[in-house]
Amino acid sequence: MNTHDKDRVLIFDTTLRDGEQAPGASMNEKEKLEIAHALDSLGVDVIEAGFPVSSPGDFNSVKSVAKHVKNSIVCGLARSVKKDIDAAADAIKPAKRGRIHVFLATSKIHLQYKFKKSEDEILQMAVEAVKYARDRAADVEFSPEDASRSEKSFLYRVLEAVIDAGATTVNIPDTVGYSVPVQYGQLIADIRNNVPNIERAVISVHCHDDLGLAVANSLAAIKNGARQAECTINGIGERAGNASMEEIVMALKTRQDFYGCTTGVNVKEICRVSRMVSKATGFIVPPNKAIVGANAFRHESGIHQDGVLKERSTYEIIRPEDVGFMETGLVLGKHSGRHALKERLKGLGVDLNETQLDKAFERFKNLADKKKEIFDEDLVTIVEDEVKGGRDIWGLVSLKTVSGTNVKPQVDVVLKSKGKTFKSASSGDGPVDACYKAIDAVTKTKGELLDYSIQSVSRGKDALGEVTVKVKFKDRNVIARAASTDILEASAKAYVNALNKVLVS
Ligand code: KIV
Ligand code: ZN
Repeated sequence: MNTHDKDRVLIFDTTLRDGEQAPGASMNEKEKLEIAHALDSLGVDVIEAGFPVSSPGDFNSVKSVAKHVKNSIVCGLARSVKKDIDAAADAIKPAKRGRIHVFLATSKIHLQYKFKKSEDEILQMAVEAVKYARDRAADVEFSPEDASRSEKSFLYRVLEAVIDAGATTVNIPDTVGYSVPVQYGQLIADIRNNVPNIERAVISVHCHDDLGLAVANSLAAIKNGARQAECTINGIGERAGNASMEEIVMALKTRQDFYGCTTGVNVKEICRVSRMVSKATGFIVPPNKAIVGANAFRHESGIHQDGVLKERSTYEIIRPEDVGFMETGLVLGKHSGRHALKERLKGLGVDLNETQLDKAFERFKNLADKKKEIFDEDLVTIVEDEVKGGRDIWGLVSLKTVSGTNVKPQVDVVLKSKGKTFKSASSGDGPVDACYKAIDAVTKTKGELLDYSIQSVSRGKDALGEVTVKVKFKDRNVIARAASTDILEASAKAYVNALNKVLVS
C-alpha cells in the first residue's frame, strides 16, 4: 500500500474472526486457509484470521494463515492482557507482515458492569497493553470497544494515549450497532479535531448491523476521514452481522464521484469469494442481497427489461460481470464434448488438471442425461461438489425411497468404502430422516441434524437442488453441501459429505 495515498481506504477483512462469531458459522482450519487465500487474491489489505488465545484451533488457524498468505497483513485479536497478546504474537510470527489487534471497552456501561474499573484504570490497561504488543509487533491496532457509546472526552484521552504508546491504527467500533450515519460520521470528524496526535495513526471503522446501518455508518465515517474499513464477506458476523465488504467496496467504486476514495480490491473476485464463504459457513446469501444476491442484477419488470435491452445503464449501476457475477446463460447440453466443457470452465476461471477434468466430464454427462440445459452455475456446482472434493471415506452408491401421503417413508441406501459396498434400510418421520438413519446404520455413526436447507442452483423444474446440512457428530459440528437433480440424493450426499469431513480432519 502507498501509505501516502490519502484517498486509499484500507480493507480489513474480519470474516475469519468477527464473521466466524456469527452463531453457527464455525469453520475448520482447512476452510479458513482456503478463504484466507481467496481474500489475499481478492486484494484485501488486512486479514483478521482469528482470536488466537480463544482455543488451540483458533491459534493454529491464525498461524497457518500467517504462514501461507503472501500479500495481505495477517492480524490476530487479543484482549488487553498479556496472555492474549503473547498468543496473538506467537500466532502471527510466521507472517510476512503481521498485526496485533488489542481491544478494551471504554463505554460507561462496560466499565461499570463488565470491569468494575475507573476510567483511569482502563486508560492505564490500554496503554500497557499497546506497549506490550508493540514490543512484539511493529504493527499494532487498538480498539476501544463500544466506542460509539463511550463518553467522547474519555475516548479522546484513550486514543491519544494509545497512539503515544505505539498504536499505528485506532479502530472505532460501533460494537452494538447503535449509531446512525450522521452521528457516527460526526464522531470520526470530532476524533480528528480533538485527538492531537491522530495524524500518526490510521483511523479505522468497525460497524455492526443491528439497525441495518453498518454499511451506511462505515461510509459516513469514510466521508469524514476514516481510512480503514473493517468488514466481512456477505456481512456475516455477531448477531445481525458486520458491515458487508462487497457493499462498502462497490459503494466506494460506484460512487467515487462522491467519496473520492479507492480500495485495492480486485472486484472481479467478489462473487467467487462470496460463494466460497457461504459454502464454508452454510449461510445462504439472500436473493435480494446487494452485489452478490442471485437477484442483484435481474430485471423482472417489462419496462426495466426493455430499458436494459436498449441501454444497460438505464437500470444498471454496476455491470454484473465486473463483480464476477455469473449470468444465467445456456452454455452446454447433452451433445457438448470434453473440449467444450474444458473451455467453458476456463471461461469461468476454473482450471482443472486432466484427472479432475475426467471426473467433471463424467458428472457433466450424467447431469446432461437428466437436465436439458446446463448453466454456468451448474458447472461451478459440479466442480465444487465433486471434482475438488477431498479424500472420501464413504461414498453414496444408490438410494431407493418410498414415501407418499399416508405412507411411512422407507429408504434403502447402498454406500461404498475402500472398495466394498454396504447396505441398510430404515424408516423415519420423513424421507430425509429415514435416509439419515439408514446412513447412520451403515456407517455405525450417529449424527444429529442441526440444520437443513435446500436451494435451487439454476432455473427450471429440472434445476439442480443444492442441500446444505449442519450435522453434529459427537462433539463436532460440521457443515456440508451436495447438489443433484434429485433432492433426496442431494440430501444423502450432503450428509455423507459431512461425515467424510469429520473422518478426514
Ligand atoms: O465489535 C467489536 O467491538 C469488536 C472489537 C473486538 C473490535 O469486534
Ligand atoms: Zn465486532
